[in-house]
Amino acid sequence: MFNVAELKFKTNKDKYGCLIPIESRKDIPFQIERVYTITNVPDDVKRGFHAHRKLHQVLVCLNGNVKIRTIIPNKELITELNDSSIGLYIGPFVWREMYDFSKDCVLLVLASEFFDENDYIRNKDFYYSEAIKYFGV
Ligand code: TYD
Repeated sequence: MFNVAELKFKTNKDKYGCLIPIESRKDIPFQIERVYTITNVPDDVKRGFHAHRKLHQVLVCLNGNVKIRTIIPNKELITELNDSSIGLYIGPFVWREMYDFSKDCVLLVLASEFFDENDYIRNKDFYYSEAIKYFGV
C-alpha cells in the first residue's frame, strides 16, 4: 500500500539470545529524530485515529502483540505486529488506528521528526479531503 511497508530487520540469534540492530537511514528509510514507547494499554482501548502531514514512522512490537489498521483513500490494511524483527513503516497521509494491544505489549515507535501537534490530522473527514489531494486519487 502507498506509504505503508513491512520492514524485516536482520536478527543475530544464537545460543546467547537474539540481538536486532536498527540503524538510522540504513535499516529504516529516514533519520531517527525521536523515539517513544507505548505500553500498559488497557483492554479494548484503541489509539491513533490520526494521520501526519510530514512525519515518517516505524512501529516495532518488542513484546506481546498489537493490530494496526492503516487507511488511505480506497485502501485499508490490517497488520498484526508480534515480532521484534519486523517494523511497520507508515509515511505521510496514512490514517492509523492501533487496537487489540496485549497486556504485555511494548510498542516502540521510531519517528523522523520532533513532536509537533500541528503535524497531526485528527479529523477523519478532513483527512480524506487532504489525502485525496496528496495521493491524487
Ligand atoms: P498521540 O500521538 O495522540 O497518541 P496515540 O496516537 O498513540 O493515541 O499522543 C498522546 C499524547 O502524548 C498527546 O497528548 C501528545 C503526547 N505526545 C508527546 O508529548 N510526544 C510524543 O512524541 C508523542 C507521540 C505524543
